[in-house]
Amino acid sequence: MKYQILTFGCQMNVSDSIWLEQALNAQGHVVAEQEDEAEFFIVNTCSVREKPEQKVYSLLGRLRDQYERNPAVFVCVGGCVAQQVGTGFLERFPFVRLVFGPDGLVMVPSALQRLLDHDKLKLSLLDFSEHYPQRDNYLPDTLPPQAYVNIMQGCNNFCAYCIVPYTRGRQKSRAAQDIVQECQELIARGVKEITLLGQNVNSYGQDNHAEDVTFAQLLELIDALPGLKRLRFTTSHPKDMSSDVINSFKSLHNLCPSLHLPLQSGSDNILKAMGRKYNQKQYLNLIDMLREACPDITMTTDLMVGFPGETDGDFQDTLHVMNRVGFDSSFSFKYSDRPGVRSAQMEPKISEAVKTERLQILQKLQEDWTLKKLQSRIGRKDEILIEGLSKKQAPEAVFWKGRDSGGRVVNILFNTSEDQTGRIVEVIFTRAKKHSLEGEALL
Ligand code: 5AD
Ligand code: SF4
Repeated sequence: MKYQILTFGCQMNVSDSIWLEQALNAQGHVVAEQEDEAEFFIVNTCSVREKPEQKVYSLLGRLRDQYERNPAVFVCVGGCVAQQVGTGFLERFPFVRLVFGPDGLVMVPSALQRLLDHDKLKLSLLDFSEHYPQRDNYLPDTLPPQAYVNIMQGCNNFCAYCIVPYTRGRQKSRAAQDIVQECQELIARGVKEITLLGQNVNSYGQDNHAEDVTFAQLLELIDALPGLKRLRFTTSHPKDMSSDVINSFKSLHNLCPSLHLPLQSGSDNILKAMGRKYNQKQYLNLIDMLREACPDITMTTDLMVGFPGETDGDFQDTLHVMNRVGFDSSFSFKYSDRPGVRSAQMEPKISEAVKTERLQILQKLQEDWTLKKLQSRIGRKDEILIEGLSKKQAPEAVFWKGRDSGGRVVNILFNTSEDQTGRIVEVIFTRAKKHSLEGEALL
């Protein structure tokens, strides 16, 4: 049958959707090019903030049109909103026939078969499993050069604002030998770059679900795999960033010089209320240690404005840390109450107008830093992993798109008619755009 998967949210969801697509294709289903050709849809949802959750509901409104056109069309809703709303989706939307949470994902291919065999059936897969939910791989013979590998599920931190521990459950590490085996299978199919994924990768192994392998040791094991060219990981929590992991940036050959280290706020009061378990000074110390181990490291972060009780002084502290660190880029959000989290009860709430104003100031400052950081690359050389042809093309000039070792997007002038996807080429940077670099291949 023809289907489409529509994905919201984080890289965990993106990676779950890739796995599901491979599993469904192995069952003989085919991805529909157009929405109105699809016979069923899988919506992989995100509830981390209010906005992505609202998008799920407007998408379901749009899919209702497909169902009204053809009542055989149905929708499976998965991911964090599904875990949270549960069977409410089955009751509210006649065309939703399956809900599944993050741990239920592995059972979706077989559940789908049952739905196709029994056209009145509706199913829910919402239980949390005790252990990391093992899943078989259905890898095609060749793959894009970049891949994600899950190393854990869930989170134990319960930051005051965050719904993740409720929707993805407690932290469950995946066995190191299974992770290494998946990496080997990916490399055998042409993957050059692997990003290890988890809600809080630095606490890998600290949950009685894996053998005694620390995150730093796991990095070492994967870094040594023959054929792998690049290794990355996300997301890290500052409180769990060990000196072993920091030293990995110096000692490991394939580990890329880039780190996403969510700061959330620069104010000690707000960090305390958020339950982040580090303060401004400790965060800045980490940055200094990382830069000592790896002077060129690309630093990115997540920031939030308008957490309950955030004063102008607290906000100024966030701007201060941004200036002290000089992040290469950041994701920034207005705080929103999520159902059941501790901060939903915290006062005073910050007005929408103040949140909007603070976010604008913060994002303008980030834009300046991003440009400054990109401009500092001009004239320097780096290796780029080519992901495919660039959108930018010109008469008699071929541009390819890839990423540098720090993860920045680079458009490369490289006049060749042969497919360069998956190749690593040396490039000299020639121009900085707003969010990307341009460069020329050095051959
Ligand atoms: N409101 C706004 N932003 C949030 N995030 C998580 N929960 C909330 C919330 N309730 C942000 C954090 C996190 C990122 C994935 O989403 O910055 O790092
Ligand atoms: Fe949420 Fe905090 Fe866990 Fe990140 S570390 S997923 S912000 S609870």
